[in-house]
Amino acid sequence: MKTQVAIIGAGPSGLLLGALLDRAGIENVVIERQSPEYVLSRIRAGIMEQVTVDLLHDAGVGERVQSGGIVHHSIDLVFKNTRHPIAVSELTKGKVVTAYGQTEVTNDLMEHRKKLGLQTYYSSNQVELHHIESEKPSVSFEHNGQRLTLECEFIAGCDGFHGISRQAIPASILKEYERVYPFGWLGILADVPPVSPHAVVYANSERGFALCSMRSMTRSRYYVQCPLTDKVEDWSDERFWEELKLRLDPEMATRLITGPSIEKSIAPLRSYVAEPMRHGRLFLAGDAAHIVPPTGAKGLNLAATDVKYLSEAMIDYFKSHSNTGIDHYSERCLKRIWRAERFSWWLTSLMHRFPDTGDFGQKIQEAELDYLVNSESLSRSLSENYVGLPLNFGE
Ligand code: APR
Ligand code: PHB
Repeated sequence: MKTQVAIIGAGPSGLLLGALLDRAGIENVVIERQSPEYVLSRIRAGIMEQVTVDLLHDAGVGERVQSGGIVHHSIDLVFKNTRHPIAVSELTKGKVVTAYGQTEVTNDLMEHRKKLGLQTYYSSNQVELHHIESEKPSVSFEHNGQRLTLECEFIAGCDGFHGISRQAIPASILKEYERVYPFGWLGILADVPPVSPHAVVYANSERGFALCSMRSMTRSRYYVQCPLTDKVEDWSDERFWEELKLRLDPEMATRLITGPSIEKSIAPLRSYVAEPMRHGRLFLAGDAAHIVPPTGAKGLNLAATDVKYLSEAMIDYFKSHSNTGIDHYSERCLKRIWRAERFSWWLTSLMHRFPDTGDFGQKIQEAELDYLVNSESLSRSLSENYVGLPLNFGE
């Protein structure tokens, strides 16, 4: 088999890249380890920058986010049991973010791919990359009991943090940067109206961080910081709701509508970057190259900008015979990635209870939050990063 671009992974990065390349007339095949149902069962953040929404429109899948997404103009910060709204849009000349679940984005892209009849090999095992340093790379994999080989011109490694693509870059070339945080997030999804339908709520409390978000006017997503040693079974729905209330301000806690959870999971928090994002004919995009802690909701947005830059670079190569885009891909992405890494690390450090800093750490966080909500310049800095820095920032 032959194609122009072999894409490893059918998460948002791989599927979005496939859609953008197809729009430009570039043939591509997606190879995914899991079944579509499994891919769609993973619940992740759901806040999109305008750049991401625009890209979904460019890819031809903007309709559902347009009708189903909910536009947010502000966020709420809670500390010392008091709520402080931050007028994100006012502080960024009208920019907004859109609440729309990542599962929905993936589903829209899958449907689109199916409608166009684009080749996708789900449930593929033993995926291996070959000859990535040559001009004729290929991918081999097992599908329905058969070993298949796909020859291509480029391989896009969109296979997430635990994928195989990054490992194909020699250890002598790949440099990794990492911070693992000493806690996790326990998240639940419930069919109840969101406590704050027009803003995400980030709460700092002596008991630990909490977050209130949403998927629609009738479906909410809530999180509480928890020790990494905790198990989902330790947390009944009742215990979760009680703990969440204790971390919010009293007015919000009274307003909170609770109900049975339809999903409950614990996720660790990590900051991670691998450099470079290109080796020979292999290009990494999304979680395959970098992870941010979910505080700030930058994961999907970073994946989307990688894919934007990668699709532009490949289109330049195939249509204009130019290597400039592919040669600058890694550098161009990493600039934006490190800015989002910094923001996500900073917001994580500001909002969580750290086991080693104790009451002193708590007081310093409260002083910084107090400064932030009372300073227009600090509130603007938070807002600019939250809505996403402009693509040409610093150029
Ligand atoms: N072969 C084929 N596919 C693989 C392999 C493999 N060896 N390993 C992993 N995959 C698949 C996974 O099953 C998954 O469906 O690659 C896909 C990667 O998808 P994601 O992990 O969602 O990564 P990405 O598409 O880059 O999306 C980034 O996900 O974690 C969030 O915050 C992050 O929102 C961001 C988004
Ligand atoms: C979510 O909706 O799941 C969400 C929102 C904002 C975040 C993280 C997660 O910062």
